[in-house]
Amino acid sequence: MHPPLHPPALKTRSPLDPDDWEGFREQLRAAADRLVDHVRDQRHWPVWQEMPDAVADRLLDPVTEAGAGAGRAWELLEDTILPYGVGNLHPRFMGWVHGAGTPGGLMAALAEAAINANLGGRNTGAARVERAVIDWTRRLFDFPERSSGILTSGTSMATVIALASARQAQADWDVEAEGLGAEGARFRLYTSEAAHSCVETAMRLLGFGKRAVRRVPTDDRGRMLTDGLHAAIRADRDAGLRPFAVVGTAGTVDIGAVDDLQAIADIADAENLWFHVDGAFGALLRLSPRLRERVDGIERADSIAFDFHKWLHVTYDCGCALIREESAHRAAFHGRPRYLEGQAEGLAAGDPWFCDYGPELSRGFRALRVWFLLVEHGTDALAEAIEGSVERAAHLAERVDAEPLLERVAPAALNIVCFRVLPLEGEDADALNVKVVAELQRRGIAAPSTTRIAGRVVIRCCLMNHRATRADMDVTVDGVLRIVEELRR
Ligand SMILES: Cc1ncc(COP(=O)(O)O)c(C=O)c1O
Repeated sequence: MHPPLHPPALKTRSPLDPDDWEGFREQLRAAADRLVDHVRDQRHWPVWQEMPDAVADRLLDPVTEAGAGAGRAWELLEDTILPYGVGNLHPRFMGWVHGAGTPGGLMAALAEAAINANLGGRNTGAARVERAVIDWTRRLFDFPERSSGILTSGTSMATVIALASARQAQADWDVEAEGLGAEGARFRLYTSEAAHSCVETAMRLLGFGKRAVRRVPTDDRGRMLTDGLHAAIRADRDAGLRPFAVVGTAGTVDIGAVDDLQAIADIADAENLWFHVDGAFGALLRLSPRLRERVDGIERADSIAFDFHKWLHVTYDCGCALIREESAHRAAFHGRPRYLEGQAEGLAAGDPWFCDYGPELSRGFRALRVWFLLVEHGTDALAEAIEGSVERAAHLAERVDAEPLLERVAPAALNIVCFRVLPLEGEDADALNVKVVAELQRRGIAAPSTTRIAGRVVIRCCLMNHRATRADMDVTVDGVLRIVEELRR
């Protein structure tokens, strides 16, 4: 390491740096103390509390010309913002698909702010960290060395990047110059009825439109019917259309079904389709020696989109796109203007620049949060956290099955349990189940979310949280029963 070029005592003045650095150090220490308590004590708080309108309406009141200082800003944050999080740190948060974060994430986030790196490109230690994280990911999925990747805000953005690479690889015209044109209008992509909406969103953004997405029916376990996939491809070819990609899902958002990725890879090979896997959370089953076979075939994908912020609990936000053929990835996004020209040495050296791999030029240092988590915990503990979720789902499913008042409405093969409260004669079943979920959340007991299965509203518990226990599952079921009893009084 080089010694500092200037003596540290050099007096400087910036309108945005503190006059009193020692005072600031104390404020930061106090804030860090409070944040450690905040993470440690989650279990003792309600899962969720709604921010009162009176608080929300006053958030801008302290913004003045003179500024209130870091101490006052922190006090306000502590009083008016800290208590009103999403709830996902709490062991009984089970809504949507949320990671819980880790205490170590505090350290990484602090260092991220101090380093304040812009990861669009350049020859920086930060860029080397992101490349190292991508390398770890590449090895996790047994992807070849020539593959490439980029960290993203989440799986939605990773899907856009992956399908842009697919478009690039499959177009036999100059798609960069001409756009989709008449040929592109004939492209079709296949995915299951249970696939996440981000696939359709990506297809809309890439100019294909929703109609280019063929939804293939699923079996009774929620997995894409491969016969149906074959039939849809055949029908489209007969109609003069051009199948170009298939998206398999490792962990569907509603029930956690994993498509038969080997069978889909075989079809993709035979039909010359780009094979993309949406593994938003399920891809990381790969870390568990006990569960990894469930995603067999993922290593054959042309691209994978998944999240570090879900089942690996990296602090929001952090997803990843991994692309087997770097050339397709780069071709989809390359093209730097003059002022971003790379050089052989100095700060403008280094390759790749991440702006060559996605639409964003300015990007934060998400990689640091991933790197820190991997170093801190190691892969065994991360696998254990994933396996724990699956075990708790089995326990919750058993509890639900034992209650005559409740009906489980889908297999609970992974980490998601969907069930509903059975209605009494004349009761509106959907309204009842919506109300039960809202009451669980409002009372701070637990925070499942809802979805619809076969058109009916159901209670959906997605177990991700590494702090949760079997007892939390029991508290949740007991809470449901108590609320139903009260509602029916
Ligand atoms: C299967 C699946 N795909 C994609 C997404 C979207 O991921 P993100 O919210 O990180 O964009 C989700 C989110 O829950 C998901 O479960």
